[in-house]
Amino acid sequence: MACLRLRTLLLPLLLLSILSINHTAKCDDHADEEETLLQGINSYRATLSLTALTKNENAECFAEQLADHFKNQPCTNTTGSNTVPGTEPHFSNYTNLLAKCNLNLTTTQDGQILPACVPNLVPNLVLSNFTQSQYSKYLNDTKFTGVGISSENNWIVLVLTANTTGGSFVNDKSAGSVSTVGLIYHCLFLVIAFFLLAS
Ligand SMILES: *[C@@H]1O[C@H](CO)[C@@H](O)[C@H](O)[C@H]1NC(C)=O
Ligand SMILES: *[C@@H]1O[C@H](CO)[C@@H](O)[C@H](O)[C@H]1NC(C)=O
Ligand SMILES: *[C@@H]1O[C@H](CO)[C@@H](O)[C@H](O)[C@H]1NC(C)=O
Ligand SMILES: *[C@@H]1O[C@H](CO)[C@@H](O)[C@H](O)[C@H]1NC(C)=O
Ligand SMILES: *[C@@H]1O[C@H](CO)[C@@H](O)[C@H](O)[C@H]1NC(C)=O
Ligand SMILES: *[C@@H]1O[C@H](CO)[C@@H](O)[C@H](O)[C@H]1NC(C)=O
Repeated sequence: MACLRLRTLLLPLLLLSILSINHTAKCDDHADEEETLLQGINSYRATLSLTALTKNENAECFAEQLADHFKNQPCTNTTGSNTVPGTEPHFSNYTNLLAKCNLNLTTTQDGQILPACVPNLVPNLVLSNFTQSQYSKYLNDTKFTGVGISSENNWIVLVLTANTTGGSFVNDKSAGSVSTVGLIYHCLFLVIAFFLLAS
């Protein structure tokens, strides 16, 4: 009897965890564009004898929040100029977006946000929007060492981290919120535990 009840509990839990896995996979359906852009930017930096930018997970988390923020805004042809919304962190919930990634202003103020909007994210146009615009001054800068990239719809957002304390993007240890990834692992752990119990 107990075993039966466990099995009826198991099915919805299993479905739930499968759904969460599908969901995270779906979030990353622009992964190719992001990888292509990173390779392009690092080739560009190599021609300038600059070090390659390394992936920074916290910057990527923040880029995801920003891409989500921009995704429903229309494309304008102002990419690379300082009039692109969000180049300056003046929008009201900027610190909220940081907090979602356990980040704060102290460790991110030296970083740089570079949003671009390119219809259908055509790879060559995306790359030149960063390397052949005013954005190139940041890509030319030796102080930037890390990067997070995320895209939503026609928007692709680059977040550069610097080799300074103010640009380190280390997690704010005073903040304590559960990450989505943590939640998914927790779910999976529960499912496995139920399997072990039910067998
Ligand atoms: C693009 O820029 C040109 C010249 O500045 C302007 O005339 C045009 O209206 C702009 N187009 C859009 C969609 O913003
Ligand atoms: C951020 O601000 C926008 C508009 O300014 C609003 O639509 C959105 O709900 C806000 N998001 C959060 C998480 O506060
Ligand atoms: C940036 O992308 C737009 C499309 O949104 C394109 O028209 C423009 O030529 C690109 N600019 C550069 C410098 O590549
Ligand atoms: C970045 O470096 C490239 C190559 O030297 C140069 O063409 C470009 O003008 C530089 N960008 C800025 C904003 O100085
Ligand atoms: C940061 O990078 C610059 C340029 O490469 C270098 O001069 C500086 O020493 C670096 N600082 C640290 C703390 O690594
Ligand atoms: C931001 O996070 C850093 C790293 O954990 C921490 O040392 C600093 O006190 C935090 N600053 C604020 C204003 O919360």
